[in-house]
Amino acid sequence: MTKLTKNESQIGPIGLNKGLTSYGDQEFSLFLRKAFIKGAGFSDKALDRPVIGITNTGSSYNPCHGNMPQLIEAVKRGVLMAGGLPMDFPTISIHESFANPTSMYLRNLMSMETEEMIKAQPMDAIVLIGGCDKTVPAQLMGAASAGIPAIQLITGSMLTGSHRGERVGACTDCRRYWAKFRAGEIDQEEIVEVNEQLVPSVGTCSVMGTASTMACIAEALGMTVPGGASPPAVTAQRMRIAEQTGEQAVQLAKDRLTIDKILTPAAFENALRVLLATGGSTNGLVHLSAIAGRMGVAIDLDAFHAMGQSTPVLIDLKPSGQHYMEDFDAAGGMPTLLRTLKPLLNLDVLTVTGQTLGQVIDAYGPTYPQEVVKSLDKPIYPQGGIAVLRGNLAPGGAIIKQSAAQASLMEHTGRAVVFENAQDLANRIDDPDLDVQPEDILVLKNIGPKGAPGMPEAGYLPIPKKLAKQGVKDMVRISDGRMSGTAFGTIVLHVTPESAIGGPLAHVQNGDQIRLSVKNRLIELLISDQELAQRSLNNPVQEPKATRGYLKLFLDEVNQADQGVDFNFLSAPITEKVPKKKN
Ligand code: FES
Ligand code: MG
Repeated sequence: MTKLTKNESQIGPIGLNKGLTSYGDQEFSLFLRKAFIKGAGFSDKALDRPVIGITNTGSSYNPCHGNMPQLIEAVKRGVLMAGGLPMDFPTISIHESFANPTSMYLRNLMSMETEEMIKAQPMDAIVLIGGCDKTVPAQLMGAASAGIPAIQLITGSMLTGSHRGERVGACTDCRRYWAKFRAGEIDQEEIVEVNEQLVPSVGTCSVMGTASTMACIAEALGMTVPGGASPPAVTAQRMRIAEQTGEQAVQLAKDRLTIDKILTPAAFENALRVLLATGGSTNGLVHLSAIAGRMGVAIDLDAFHAMGQSTPVLIDLKPSGQHYMEDFDAAGGMPTLLRTLKPLLNLDVLTVTGQTLGQVIDAYGPTYPQEVVKSLDKPIYPQGGIAVLRGNLAPGGAIIKQSAAQASLMEHTGRAVVFENAQDLANRIDDPDLDVQPEDILVLKNIGPKGAPGMPEAGYLPIPKKLAKQGVKDMVRISDGRMSGTAFGTIVLHVTPESAIGGPLAHVQNGDQIRLSVKNRLIELLISDQELAQRSLNNPVQEPKATRGYLKLFLDEVNQADQGVDFNFLSAPITEKVPKKKN
């Protein structure tokens, strides 16, 4: 047996020595640790090198992570090739369709678990493997708080399917076909048939939904290897990215390139720019607020809106455009977008490659003609995808994904048709006697961070069946909830403060007039301040509470959408605001 010398336990943070629980005898602790890892079949030779942790977020409940075994194998290969010791370990996995009451409810739990397991176990760097919507933000939040060198590996998007000659993919087409079925345009047989085609492989949703948005954001933040966002889950390129990620993790460990050197205010500014230019999911803004909050950086919604004025949507992907992630990948993926956006980016920020973003952009591949990433002078939408609204209905702000909204509805005044909560909506939305007209505004309360709880993606209110049957495809809809990044429509989301804590939304009544003006950035309830104050006196709101468990922690500590729906005690004190530039 190799002698354990004093010197060895003083090597510093590299290797198995990290975080030894000594209780007065560090050498004995290391002796025990080595004995146990040898029990797993390792020799001394394997131990004398940087330890690279790898989060295993595979789960039978998570087909978006269905390539996890192959990814881990490839990461391990990369780590070994570069002279490190790969150590994978499980953490929570969250899938959009299988998490009750909503995946967002569990995101902070996953971030806490990721942070604590990174801190608890000896490792010099961490490879975070995530893909499905909430997993990448949870991992970046956790790693940001843990503070060690970290690199993100994306599981990759799913392939597209084919239905009766038409190309389809989750989940924009899931919604489109379901809407057709609700409207009676397609029959039972066809809806069953298309169901077989919407998710034709493992991997994340194939449009610019939240998963793809967060993949692009992770790369824009400098947290992935170049080109790491877009290769589909089942491709060889995805496995080579995994191998490269493992290799790079060892380099990060050797260089002690900790995550705080990557996740800087300038990097968050780049990520916000990319969020706008991708026509990305509105959830991206919430997640970015949470990740930034862990680094003491707040997102200034008004400055973000101003940034949108000078940031066109360039990526022609559903739901704002027409293509899918595999087309974006074939068009060169994020390096193509970043090269196009170069005049608008902070180029001197450091990435996990050890190079600056500017160097990465210049070094990456040749350019070639392609149709998915548009040029700055021929965008698919002239402004950024997301606009920020304010007004007496949302003093803390609200947002609308203007690139996925119907132009004719973006300046609209209408009569409120109010649903008190998600159950009320489910009970009445398809009632043939519901008093609703196409020009009305649908309002849903109590689906905010505390209201539902977890701020579910219920903000995409269905068009009432009787109107859908008349051919109505879009209406103005307002809530304090979120919507799926794969959804589309004239939908106002994240109304802050939420109704469950007594925000003005709580006091909207059937028949009130509401005015939406995206041009003037306004969302207004057309009643007087006195009337609004009187209503809140007459109907004071009882905030939801729980007596035990994670639900209690959640309801006691969760903050509002503009702060990222994180727990108060997990955010760092705010020291900077982004974006700084006003255009
Ligand atoms: Fe996992 Fe869409 S359900 S990415
Ligand atoms: Mg989603």
